[in-house]
Amino acid sequence: MSTDTNPRSPLVVVANRLPVRWSDDDGGEGSWIPSPGGLVAAVGPAISTFDSATWIGWTGGEDEVEPFELEGLRLHPVAIGAEEKVLFYDGMSNGTLWPLYHDKAVPAEFHRHWFEGYRRINRRYAEAAAATAAEGGTVWVHDYQLQLVPGMLREVRPDLRIGYFLHIPFPPPELFVALPWREQLAAGILGADLAGFQTPDAAANFRRLAVRLGLAEYGEEGSDTIIVGDRTVKACAYPIGIDVEHYEQAAMDPATTDRARDLRARLGAPQTVLLGVDRLDYTKGIDVRLRAVLELLEDGTLDPGRVTMIQVAQPSRDDVEAYITLREEVDRLIGQINGDYARVGFPVVHYIHQDVEFDELMAMYRAADVMLVTPFRDGMNLVAKEYVAARYDLTGALVLSEFAGAATELSDAVLVNPYDIDGMKAAILRAVSMEPPQARERMEKLRRAVQSNDASEWGQRFLADLGQIPI
Ligand code: G6P
Repeated sequence: MSTDTNPRSPLVVVANRLPVRWSDDDGGEGSWIPSPGGLVAAVGPAISTFDSATWIGWTGGEDEVEPFELEGLRLHPVAIGAEEKVLFYDGMSNGTLWPLYHDKAVPAEFHRHWFEGYRRINRRYAEAAAATAAEGGTVWVHDYQLQLVPGMLREVRPDLRIGYFLHIPFPPPELFVALPWREQLAAGILGADLAGFQTPDAAANFRRLAVRLGLAEYGEEGSDTIIVGDRTVKACAYPIGIDVEHYEQAAMDPATTDRARDLRARLGAPQTVLLGVDRLDYTKGIDVRLRAVLELLEDGTLDPGRVTMIQVAQPSRDDVEAYITLREEVDRLIGQINGDYARVGFPVVHYIHQDVEFDELMAMYRAADVMLVTPFRDGMNLVAKEYVAARYDLTGALVLSEFAGAATELSDAVLVNPYDIDGMKAAILRAVSMEPPQARERMEKLRRAVQSNDASEWGQRFLADLGQIPI
């Protein structure tokens, strides 16, 4: 890692978080660790092949940090103060937009001072990007926290090519129009030349919204474009992928095999291991999945002597009320399952409310017979793809929510409606009792789908398309 005098870059990525965050949780001096979530997991590898890229983002803390270099990438930290975080991050980003975009999984709150804070911090990111991008360069803005940035940037740097990618769902206009700042938020994205979404539905929702708000007109029929004044904006789907090779190689590493074997032994050598890996977020359906497991135990269809579950729930947004409430519910459900069905030394659910290191995660993917990915709504869900990438021996079964973006590509998973608890129970049973030849056939197809959409190809495709747009 070295300091850097911030030269101008031909490619600038702007995301709320840097790919690494500062952590002193281990009680030591502190260190840079990977940031949580799918955005960083996918965008990092996606831009790794580009020279001289700069990534602008938050360190997760309040301190001003000088730009520095990490593995050939220039990192340009943005500082966000404690009060600013309450308005911009806990408030507008995660108390308004996140729930609204996820089908109001919890009620979305609208507060003018949150929006003011959001605008102020978006301006800060836009100014950092304007100061960092080379003349005629490309700026790629990411996700719902920075929706005003493309518009703000265009005002001051019309020479740039601006891309925007939304990692989470984009809601139907009927939900979006409740936002008191709907024009500003939609116009912000329209500042981009190319707006990418996880699914064709999300992109269509955005085009429909822009037209409904009178901010744009439809372009040529079937072209995915909309006309904004004298500009053309393309809005279409770029389903995001993972760094497949990285996961496959890690899965095949003999050290991972040893770790997975050791893990199963430590679990008491159960017949079946179920696994959930999520940020502790109410959109992920962790509670409904646990309820389904509890009912299966109550019905006697799952035998606690034979089945064990690991649930990793990475701490997330823990200053936001809805996350605190969810944590209490998950704690309660796991307590109930273990209270009613565990034997001493053999919990039924092993609950990890901590960050898990990559090696440990890979061992879990390898040890798990059934992966449960059951969000109520999810932009993509890369955990589902990571599990598939790790199952190089064509074993294992994936239970996947129909409402995860990943279900479009991974239609050979056991698909479930997470609102249908009986359906969820049936899906879990189906996965647990799937015969090896059938599991093999499904996993083969799932793997082909994951392999055909790699993170770096995704990034190259988005940036190549952006480069084609006349400006
Ligand atoms: C999702 C979002 C990302 C976000 C990540 C982690 O993947 O799309 O923008 O960074 O969750 O959430 P956090 O609030 O910790 O950044």
